[in-house]
Amino acid sequence: MSPTIQNIDVHVHLEASDLSVALRNEAFAGLTAKSKELSPKWLYDERGCQLFDEITRLAEYYPTRTERSILDRHAGDIASLSNAETLLELGSGTSDKTRLLLDALDDRGTLRDFVALDVAQTTIVEAAEKLTIDYPDVSMTAVVGDFEHHIARLPRFGRQLIAFLGGTIGNLNPDTRAKLLSELARTMEPGDALLVGTDLVKDRARLVAAYDDAAGVTAAFNRNVLAVLNRELRGNFDLGRFAHMALFDEENSWIEMRLRSITDQRVHLQALGLHVDFVAGEDIRTEISTKFRPGQIARELTAAGLDPIRTFTDDNGDYALTLAVR
Ligand code: SAH
Ligand code: TRP
Repeated sequence: MSPTIQNIDVHVHLEASDLSVALRNEAFAGLTAKSKELSPKWLYDERGCQLFDEITRLAEYYPTRTERSILDRHAGDIASLSNAETLLELGSGTSDKTRLLLDALDDRGTLRDFVALDVAQTTIVEAAEKLTIDYPDVSMTAVVGDFEHHIARLPRFGRQLIAFLGGTIGNLNPDTRAKLLSELARTMEPGDALLVGTDLVKDRARLVAAYDDAAGVTAAFNRNVLAVLNRELRGNFDLGRFAHMALFDEENSWIEMRLRSITDQRVHLQALGLHVDFVAGEDIRTEISTKFRPGQIARELTAAGLDPIRTFTDDNGDYALTLAVR
């Protein structure tokens, strides 16, 4: 399906019905596993996207503003090193910071197309609508899809810069991350570039605070996944009976977000015909957010068959943007 809204092309690889099948399968597998878990992509319904947008403005949540400051300084370098005709963004969300890249590529006069891929349909279509107003000469394509499944189906218009911002690559486990990087490397043509944003290891208190803010926005974001299950799978999760947890796992170098059952309880998911039992203190893992060591992502890019040519960081060394070419 490829309807055109004004001058935005919308490609839908994930219809609402596909999403609901995927949610059923994954929720069933995740909630019947010995260690209960849910995929982070279910966090991003409309309410989840709004809450994430609020998170990006929190005092404790440094990654967004740090990544923006690096782009402020280096978008011109990235544009001249990539010379891209197309900017392709994975997990684009509202594409806010992406404007810095669009401006820099526009200034070079090379940019013709912007392609955004996200599972969150409303969010990316709205983002594309706003961008067409501000970039009338750039063709917009919003692709509703999953970067774990639909990379090969993305349209190709010309020399590409692929941007994967926000540290979202860190939300994948190491195997999935390696698979995605290899797949990206395979679909890239010589001259294409990939820009990856990664959050770096730092003081543990700052790391944890970024995922457990004082105002409780991240807690609301985390619990919202239960509201998604209630709505989509006719569940009866009581959000008040799950506590938001953010822990740093030193060994794996990642933050884990969990929902901890406050009491012994049984939850019913009618659409799955499933009862899920929790003992007090039992967790559902809802997300990991990997914190990288300096040089780590460059080595992973090399292992995937790419050539990392530049790393841009902030003065504090909190966050890195790594540019690799094929
Ligand atoms: N790039 C933005 C948003 C980051 S939040 C920024 O830097 O601020 C992560 C985004 O990735 C959300 O918009 C979410 O909907 C999207 N996302 C998460 N898992 C995804 C998947 N498997 N496929 C496609 N998009 C995904
Ligand atoms: N990519 C973001 C990160 O890992 C996503 C994120 C931020 C997030 N805050 C969150 C995910 C809280 C779940 C819960 O930093």
